[in-house]
Amino acid sequence: MTATKGLEGIVAATSSISSINDGVLAYRGINIDELAENASYEETAYLLWYGKLPTKSQLLTLQDQLSEYAAVPQPLLDQMKLYPKDANTMSVLRTTVSALALYDDSVNDNSRESNQKKSIKLQSQIPTLIAAYARIREGKEPIAPLKGVSIAHNFLYMLSGEEPDEVAVSALDQALVLHADHELNASTFSARVTIATLSDIYSGVTSAIGTLKGPLHGGANEAVSQMLSEIGTLDQTESYIQAKLNNKEKIMGFGHRVYKNGDPRAKHLQKMSYELSLLKGNSTLYDISIKVEEIVTGQKGLKPNVDFYSASVYTQLGIPRDLFTPIFAISRLSGWTAHILEQLDDNRIIRPRADYTGLNNQHYIPIELR
Ligand SMILES: CC(C)(COP(=O)(O)OP(=O)(O)OC[C@H]1O[C@@H](n2cnc3c(N)ncnc32)[C@H](O)[C@@H]1OP(=O)(O)O)[C@@H](O)C(=O)NCCC(=O)NCCS
Repeated sequence: MTATKGLEGIVAATSSISSINDGVLAYRGINIDELAENASYEETAYLLWYGKLPTKSQLLTLQDQLSEYAAVPQPLLDQMKLYPKDANTMSVLRTTVSALALYDDSVNDNSRESNQKKSIKLQSQIPTLIAAYARIREGKEPIAPLKGVSIAHNFLYMLSGEEPDEVAVSALDQALVLHADHELNASTFSARVTIATLSDIYSGVTSAIGTLKGPLHGGANEAVSQMLSEIGTLDQTESYIQAKLNNKEKIMGFGHRVYKNGDPRAKHLQKMSYELSLLKGNSTLYDISIKVEEIVTGQKGLKPNVDFYSASVYTQLGIPRDLFTPIFAISRLSGWTAHILEQLDDNRIIRPRADYTGLNNQHYIPIELR
């Protein structure tokens, strides 16, 4: 038995949800470029869950369900008020999603019907949880979700209590479409491993959130934003990046396990970042990002991934940095739960082997003799 480090190139499941072929990402066979230009996030989530785009009435039903479930149990909001005000937002999300299970009588019902309903519930409750903590830590009261608006609209509204502008809603909505699913990425794999033991959907999503948090996965967008603010000005960019490359440090937001010729999602986020910079009349962040790309791609041949330009997009939307990865979780929730449903449709426990490299034929030594 020989181990493949990082499971690179290992095919660990069959799936009909999303595919990456020749650098093209497709959800249920539809190129992500088409979805990014045309679909709303709600249509995308429906597509991932049910395998096809919704009709008008199916979409209306989903939107009604999302509105109906968006409030979270009051004890959870009370509990959040006891959390440290500087808690890591992904840790808060992981803890509160886990706690949601305590308030759902159907937690252990793993029928497709029940898990489908819980997927929609989680989809509408996760933005409420994130926005609530963002306010609670500032000593403000959480804002109840609106009914009849999109997830992107509701999230921005619940953060500030003000009606968000259309440009912000549409940019966030498109970012949610682009992050919704990505074949067997690390957090989705976690979700599948957890549900494959016949645990429950909340456990699967909690595992996935813990996995997304890391800077090599979803946490990269916050690390990129940190880097851009450390760089500060365009004329500092070259020396900052060069120093990192000389130190053999990784530049966050670059490289990918699967895409070697560029991440197909990055161009959409780059365009969005550019358009926002024109609207704001300030292109510093965008110009620094372009310069970073020129240097890293020029010297290392590495291309930006989905996290690189999402950092400048979210910053220009006025979203606090530590909500970037939770926003990724809002979006990837539809992918995680679609994979959980698919795993349960044809389940077998996921239990690989390890290539043992430790000692053999050792003996127990009584403690007084060690
Ligand atoms: C995405 C990522 C985790 C993929 O990891 P991986 O498939 O294991 O790739 P590796 O880390 O083995 O990278 C291969 C080579 O490219 C280099 N490399 C990869 N990403 C790099 C980066 N962002 N900056 C600098 N060098 C990088 C590695 O150091 C390695 O070089 P070596 O062969 O000289 O040791 C990795 O590219 C990375 O850490 N990127 C930054 C974090 C990030 O943006 N994550 C979000 C992914 S969507």
